[in-house]
Amino acid sequence: VEVDASWEVSRKIPDTLFGLFFEEINHAGAGGIWAELVSNRGFESGGPHTPSNIDPWSIIGDESSIYITTDRSSCFSKNTVALRMEILCENCPAGGVGIYNPGFWGMNIEEGKTYNLVMYIRSLESVELTASLTCSDGMQNLASVSIQEIDPSNWTKIEMQLLAQGTCRTSRLELTSMKRGVIWFDQVSLMPSDTYKGHGFRKELIYMLLELRPQFLRFPGGCFVEGDWLRNAFRWRETIGPWEQRPGHFGDVWNYWTDDGLGYYEFLQLAEDLGAAPIWVFNVGISHHDEVDTIIIEPFVKDVLDSLEFARGSAESTWGSVRAAMGHPERFPLKYVAIGNEDCGKEFYRGNYLKFYDAIRKAYPDIQMISNCDGSSRPLDHPADLYDFHVYTSAANLFIMKNKFDRTSRIGPKVFVSEYAVNEQRDAGKGSLLASLAEAAFLTGFEKNSDVVQMASYAPLFVNDNDSTWNPDAIVFNSWQQYGTPSYWVQTYFRESSGSVIHPITISSRYSDSLAASAITWQDSEDIFLRVKIVNFGPNAVNLTISSRGLQDGVNTAKSTVTVLTSGNFLDENSFSEPNKVVPVESELPNAAEVMEAVLPPFSFTSFDLAL
Ligand code: AHR
Repeated sequence: VEVDASWEVSRKIPDTLFGLFFEEINHAGAGGIWAELVSNRGFESGGPHTPSNIDPWSIIGDESSIYITTDRSSCFSKNTVALRMEILCENCPAGGVGIYNPGFWGMNIEEGKTYNLVMYIRSLESVELTASLTCSDGMQNLASVSIQEIDPSNWTKIEMQLLAQGTCRTSRLELTSMKRGVIWFDQVSLMPSDTYKGHGFRKELIYMLLELRPQFLRFPGGCFVEGDWLRNAFRWRETIGPWEQRPGHFGDVWNYWTDDGLGYYEFLQLAEDLGAAPIWVFNVGISHHDEVDTIIIEPFVKDVLDSLEFARGSAESTWGSVRAAMGHPERFPLKYVAIGNEDCGKEFYRGNYLKFYDAIRKAYPDIQMISNCDGSSRPLDHPADLYDFHVYTSAANLFIMKNKFDRTSRIGPKVFVSEYAVNEQRDAGKGSLLASLAEAAFLTGFEKNSDVVQMASYAPLFVNDNDSTWNPDAIVFNSWQQYGTPSYWVQTYFRESSGSVIHPITISSRYSDSLAASAITWQDSEDIFLRVKIVNFGPNAVNLTISSRGLQDGVNTAKSTVTVLTSGNFLDENSFSEPNKVVPVESELPNAAEVMEAVLPPFSFTSFDLAL
């Protein structure tokens, strides 16, 4: 392996190269990164008709003691459904009767932690209500508070804290009473008090994202943005403002309801919290099955302009003031938008695209616009700053695709590989080493071609193990655990690449066909490193000599390291029981030098970091 690290032949990699794509899929947001523990908190998931399906709420008691239904008596005009609970028993059983919410496959309640309960209730007479957290069978009480003071003439907002006296990973929230009478409930929320920066995000999952040092955050989908039908597409306007007033919506592509607690504002906040540039993917009037004709697309264009004002307008502007009222008077630095998702080729895409493009260019000349049409093989027939490239394929194919952008035109829009992954089940399972090695090779191709590939993100990012609609994913979690798949760990090898310097590298080996490599120079607060990454995609151990030319001051052996990702079997995966089966292992590199010998294990990814 020969690396030429001299500056004349080196090139800076864009600061934006590696980032994240977050989609509301697999309960990544609702029941995932968004820490809300109550599912269907406004009883709206059955739609506006009453009586309505209120799944997963259920009753405690039997038909003779309790009767629940829904009506449209809510105090919130955009989500009018409320739950009416009638307690019929005179001598109710001990513990009372009522309703419970199991959250998203059980709430994770942990001893010593506090949980903020907010809900709206109404009753024509005084109430004796108990709110408690119990373990799944309802037998172990973890925390409880009683509620009596309400305004009998109106809806009353209740805000209380519950301090957990025990730990249970499959808890539920119970609202019970022993007093005969009628109580209405609406917008029942339970949030852990220790969310990331108090912004509502589940901490451990955020830490996993921070570990990747993402340069951008593309959100909120994906197909989630399009909807199977336009009526179920993501509508930013419905997801902002006070959470109690959000109607929520059914994501019909991934088939679940979301209360939209994680809305447009929260996505912008998430990007800020991650130190990542937000990339807003908006709907262009096109879903999987219906489209808005370009002749009548103007209201949709206006709607998107409003969303940009919401993010970037002054705190005095119409929509900027809504953002300010939500707690963020500073503008969000929104500089990228994707005009649709995977809509190229649809009947009205080009026409609609141009309407959005022209209006945004006029109002926000600095915003970079991303087309859905692949310009890698032929020039686009419309203006764009970047174009989306998506690929889900087999491991062998993705490995070969490391050269995909070698001959792509350098003229015109840049490439945003906004979704990539090995997803062929035979190769990938729920996240195999083999899949991750092919992805690593593909990523070395982005580094080398980063004069034209400006951004890249793996997809999907998250999966709640209880709803694994799409496999594989980068991060797997349940109510209380999480781990990275090998694909996640591969991305940690590239976090230093954004903004670093790429050098020419050549490999001469009889195993060249199954090797992929790149070389960068990067620096941390103390040192500069030459990083040589090599994927061995074959079954043989490979002996190599790595020679680095152009290093000005030699190599500091003491600070040099080698990091290897490999496992006994190339189909090995991580799991909740073995979360660290396939993870990078770092060790010292005592033979670090300008010319050094190295052995690559079969099916492995190795990073040599030579301190300079
Ligand atoms: O990442 C999963 C899906 O794959 C995305 O929603 C969509 O853009 C693509 O088809």
